[in-house]
Amino acid sequence: MEIQCDESHDSAVMAILKTTEEVNQLKDVDTILDKILHESRRLANADAGSIFLVEDGALTFSYVQNDTLCKGSGANAALYQNFKVPISECSIVGYAALTKQTVVIDDAYELEATLPYSFNKSFDEKSGYRTTSMLTIPMVSQGSRLVGVMQLINARNEQGKAIPFDLEAQIHISLFGNNASVAIERGIMNRELILRMMQMAELRDPSETGAHVQRVGAYCAEIYGTWAQRRGHTAKQIKRERDNLRLAAMLHDVGKVGISDSILKKPGRLNDEEYDTMKWHTVYGARLFRNQTSDLDRMSMEIALNHHEKWAGGGYPGAIRDIWASDAALGQSLKGESIPLAARICAVADVFDALTSPRSYKDPFPDEKTLGILEKDAGTHFDPELVEIFMEIFDVIKAIRAKYKESGH
Ligand SMILES: [Fe+2]
Ligand SMILES: [Fe+2]
Repeated sequence: MEIQCDESHDSAVMAILKTTEEVNQLKDVDTILDKILHESRRLANADAGSIFLVEDGALTFSYVQNDTLCKGSGANAALYQNFKVPISECSIVGYAALTKQTVVIDDAYELEATLPYSFNKSFDEKSGYRTTSMLTIPMVSQGSRLVGVMQLINARNEQGKAIPFDLEAQIHISLFGNNASVAIERGIMNRELILRMMQMAELRDPSETGAHVQRVGAYCAEIYGTWAQRRGHTAKQIKRERDNLRLAAMLHDVGKVGISDSILKKPGRLNDEEYDTMKWHTVYGARLFRNQTSDLDRMSMEIALNHHEKWAGGGYPGAIRDIWASDAALGQSLKGESIPLAARICAVADVFDALTSPRSYKDPFPDEKTLGILEKDAGTHFDPELVEIFMEIFDVIKAIRAKYKESGH
């Protein structure tokens, strides 16, 4: 295929390079996928799209956007669907992954019978959506490694009518997708590294599982998104903060590695003295972020230190003059907005998840009972607006819980 090196192509390539640079500044894999899909859809004015990532030899559904069915960047349960597609000729995404070839379809309902793959109508039938044109591209990173497949749906003309994807869009999106694959791999690695750090903590405290921290991270990101949207923050600001929060919240209890086994592994409840010792996991966690080189470090420290503070006071560790001093002592507890927002959000998410999960001394509480506790403690333990948001997005919370079940790490 011949590419004309005219001015418009050059400027499109420049724009792609600039966007790739922006993608490279993001750290969490979900924020990276969101940005890649958004920018790819913009290049072709596509109504919808999804990304599948290669995991254990199959394609795992990983991200979706659909302007017709779900406008805006609010909390979205569809993001947390859990399904896999085999890498095989039978499906369109599977075929693109298997052959590492772009698949261009002008009308999904008019596929030639001789093609090995067929279009799966079930999504359209369930949602009432009408898929017409499709562009399915393999995303290949350096060393020709297949990272995933991106599928864009319904390119639109200026009147909003679905039209086929033109050659220019095919070339530009495939270029962008391959460049951005490197960022996806890095995003996956970041999350894996954090999960491994938490596995160390889990060896010590079996209640702090990989699934628990994945859920808490995702709950926090969604609560924050709605909080920031209420305040009219720009989509760009929201994405940047969410990106850090998702990962930082996963590390909330990393300081438990500094607490002795006799306390962490004690069956049943702790006595007062043991509980006082346990409180230091907040300070030990914060101390891990001494050399702050990024917003992620700053936020991780805020959360580790303050996730047990309470809105009306009475939490711990309180204001500590110098957390690095060898004679540091717990201080006067913080209150209200003097507790960093990220830590206030994490408090709601962590308590909800602890209550709805089994522990050595209790069965999981049913949702109704747990939500009752959150509501009762809004204004005392929790920032009341954050509890209100939690209730508002509860269908998304349930979708996250279904995605990150126990033993899923
Ligand atoms: Fe904690
Ligand atoms: Fe926790």
